[in-house]
Amino acid sequence: MTGNFDEQRPGAYLGTTQMHAHQPEADALVLFGATGDLAKRKLFPSLYALERHGTLRVPVIGVARSTWTDEDFRMHARDSINTHVDGADATVVDSLEARLDLIQGNYADEATWTCLRDALDRCGSTTAVFYMAIPPSMFPMVAKKLASVGLNTRGRIVVEKPFGRDLASAIELNKTLHAVFPEDHIFRIDHYLGKEAVEDLLVFRFANTMIEPVWNRHYVRSVQVTMSESIGIEGRGNFYEGVGAIRDVLQNHLLQVVALLAMEPPAGPDPGFLQDEKAKVINAMRPIDAGSLVRGQYVGYRDEKGVPENSEVETFAAARLEIDSWRWAGVPWYVRVGKGLAESATEAVVELRSPPRMLFDGAGSPPPERNLIRLRLGKNDGVTFALQAKTPGPDLDSQEVDVDVDFAAALGERQDAYERLLGDALIGSLRRFARQDVVEGTWRVVQPALDEPGPIFPYFRNSWGPSEASSILVNNKDAWYLPSPAR
Ligand code: BG6
Repeated sequence: MTGNFDEQRPGAYLGTTQMHAHQPEADALVLFGATGDLAKRKLFPSLYALERHGTLRVPVIGVARSTWTDEDFRMHARDSINTHVDGADATVVDSLEARLDLIQGNYADEATWTCLRDALDRCGSTTAVFYMAIPPSMFPMVAKKLASVGLNTRGRIVVEKPFGRDLASAIELNKTLHAVFPEDHIFRIDHYLGKEAVEDLLVFRFANTMIEPVWNRHYVRSVQVTMSESIGIEGRGNFYEGVGAIRDVLQNHLLQVVALLAMEPPAGPDPGFLQDEKAKVINAMRPIDAGSLVRGQYVGYRDEKGVPENSEVETFAAARLEIDSWRWAGVPWYVRVGKGLAESATEAVVELRSPPRMLFDGAGSPPPERNLIRLRLGKNDGVTFALQAKTPGPDLDSQEVDVDVDFAAALGERQDAYERLLGDALIGSLRRFARQDVVEGTWRVVQPALDEPGPIFPYFRNSWGPSEASSILVNNKDAWYLPSPAR
């Protein structure tokens, strides 16, 4: 990418469209943090899937501080796959194991890095993928160490969220990484961008002529995006206390989804054009202030291990976003995220305006409900159009009928997000990764909510969060839509 960062406008880039759609395919994969939790839960199962589909063609070199042998490492990979993949095929696991080697050493030691360079030399690698499955606090050090042995010019890095913990630290982190890697060699993973259903938003909006004409302030009354999880923090108290729902999922997953829903059509297929449109719409968002935010905490959170008894960290957040663009000015966008809620779902509900004249309520029956377009982005992904149809009988009454598609049933097996993202990093495609200016823009949007978060309201588990969440709805007769019932 050739954009120049504009210091006066954090988050703004000038002339950013040129991202190389494809870079050379990688010839090695280096996994930092190879014995850690992310590798165990996500990366080995994804490597297995790539191997099974014949798309893994490179050696995989793990780097870790554990005092493990190559054999221990291979056993660990095998265990991870057997735990996370139903009916794993033993011959595929064998082929994957044959690719695995471990470099064991301390990240601070010079010897670890020369050893890694020697290993890459031995397999003739010139374009490696360096996957940072390590805590973000280690990204700067590892990037610098790669540069110290000249490996920064022999590959690209993959970093996992969080990309900073506020706007200032995100800018700082990006500066540090840019001192070592150019922007188009930094692949930032937000795993929501790897989900087929999230990517489908682009197809839904721009491949269906019937959608785009109504996708604006003239026809849309409001948009609600919910990401609810029924699980709590699952023993991750220490981690969650330093994060909270706004940093954990709202700033990244949720705002990426909103950007895809709200942006203008990209100028062309180059991934840079897509990122440009996301950056534009995020720049048009007003920052979330205390008046448009409600935070909640589930009852029992303070009893979790690693959580202090006076914790004010939110496990729920609801916010009203305003997008000052020609398309969306005046349309409230509501977002809601939370743990310990009644159901797990990720769903965007686009509520259309009522027809200009009601022809059907002469008989005293209630007016028709508004049309809804529900986009299910989590489990059971698909789309439902809530339409009005005539109620059988002599009167001209209407009732809601759902026109519904379940994507898995209609289209078949969905690929796992991590498999796709790992595959993309290996072939060098940036399309599904997050660009720096977009990430910084999302921090700018949430920054006031981090600086002055306001009160925190308790809610019971298995509910839909604190009742105060309704206070941010512009029209006090409105309510939050419940996600589609589980099927
Ligand atoms: C992660 C968050 O990024 O996303 C977790 O750190 C959250 O707290 C998870 O549970 C949700 O991802 P998914 O794919 O299960 O919706």
